[in-house]
Amino acid sequence: MPLPCPLLSDSVSIEMDTQDNQLCFSGVKAQELVEKYGSPLYVYEESIIRKQYRELVDQFLYPKFRVHYAVKANYNPTILKILLEEGCGADTVSDQEVRLCLDLGFPPESIIFTGDNNTDEEMRYCLEKDVLINVGSLSQLERLGKLKEGARVSVRINPDVGAGHHSHCITGGPKTKFGIYHDKIEQIQAIVKQYNLKLVGIHSHIGTGIMDSEKFIEAMDVTTGVAKKIEGLEFVDFGGGIGIPYRESQSPLNLKDFGAKVSEHFTKFCAEYGNDLELKIEPGRFLVCQAGTLIAQVNTLKETPAHQFAGCNTGFNHLMRPMAYGSYHKILNASRVEGEKKAIVLCGNICESGDVFTQGSDGIEDREVSALEEGDLVAILDAGAYGMSMSMQYNMRSRPPEVLVSPEGQTKLIRKKESYEDIMSNFC
Ligand code: LLP
Repeated sequence: MPLPCPLLSDSVSIEMDTQDNQLCFSGVKAQELVEKYGSPLYVYEESIIRKQYRELVDQFLYPKFRVHYAVKANYNPTILKILLEEGCGADTVSDQEVRLCLDLGFPPESIIFTGDNNTDEEMRYCLEKDVLINVGSLSQLERLGKLKEGARVSVRINPDVGAGHHSHCITGGPKTKFGIYHDKIEQIQAIVKQYNLKLVGIHSHIGTGIMDSEKFIEAMDVTTGVAKKIEGLEFVDFGGGIGIPYRESQSPLNLKDFGAKVSEHFTKFCAEYGNDLELKIEPGRFLVCQAGTLIAQVNTLKETPAHQFAGCNTGFNHLMRPMAYGSYHKILNASRVEGEKKAIVLCGNICESGDVFTQGSDGIEDREVSALEEGDLVAILDAGAYGMSMSMQYNMRSRPPEVLVSPEGQTKLIRKKESYEDIMSNFC
């Protein structure tokens, strides 16, 4: 049953929460959280996760609509349980993600396994657990047929359309490794026939961080074009990819318009297909990104002829998006949100020059932040997706703890800080 969600509103924007000019999370000051749990620290607001899910579902008017959360965005079990409570399914990419979802109580039929270059062992595991495999190559389809004649299967096609916030994040088109090219329907059907497979779903996912619906609809048309040639389908899955406005200047995707367009296109397709199929999507970022913040403490101010640097106690080992893609994350002085602004470069504690959070497409950038002093807390916003899930132990630094703040302002540790012993435990 969905829990009460005080932040539920018509708008997709997330309001900033402050008290005494300090940044708060569902009413709890960043400072209080750091005193209790230490820093660096990932904080998630439960109300935002629930709000995002409900807003998304509300905008898709097509009645047979199902959301499968892309677990890769953030696999913290507490976050998964919140989405499970909301009625969400799961999109998984490894046998361990499948196992986690099953352990948490996701019904097998609510889980889709869309891995890439999967081994027979991974497929065997899914078959054993009755989890649907969404295959991404003719080779995998054939290997699946050999593992289990007559198996139910879904096929990921590459619709020849791609989009995304960075070249590493485009997953459709001829330059990407994903899916079976959309013109290979005959080969797909031949393998399906040979092994008596039951092809129940067609899937595509063109990329991530998409801020307008055009490319999505273009890919949708190719995907439904393929679906029309296949009898007996149960669903079409259009993947994830909905972006969020990381920059103040960006407008969010018009969700209402997007949901209406997708629903309208799909209804038309179903009329032509002759059956009302299920419409699936697999958002990751949209559901959890804005719910998460990485809080760190500034311990060093220094300058060079080019920049004023503020050094803090986290780094790209905890949030690699700025270094990996030049991604922009809003940064606030959580100890004094409003104040005289000063241009700084916020950098981390990892021994690489690229360990800088204020990056743009041309590398290191200055950012205007309310003047930072040593000891201040900084908040790196919109870090709930592809933050902790892409973290690592480089420089032998531990992963930070994660804390959930309830809508009522109760805080709960949902992942402990890694210890020296945790890191050493796998060495022989
Ligand atoms: N479905 C499939 C098959 C995917 O590969 C992905 C993401 C999703 C759904 C969810 O996409 P989303 O709704 O989150 O955009 N590390 C990058 C993002 C990589 C996404 C990979 N696949 C980043 O930090 O931007």
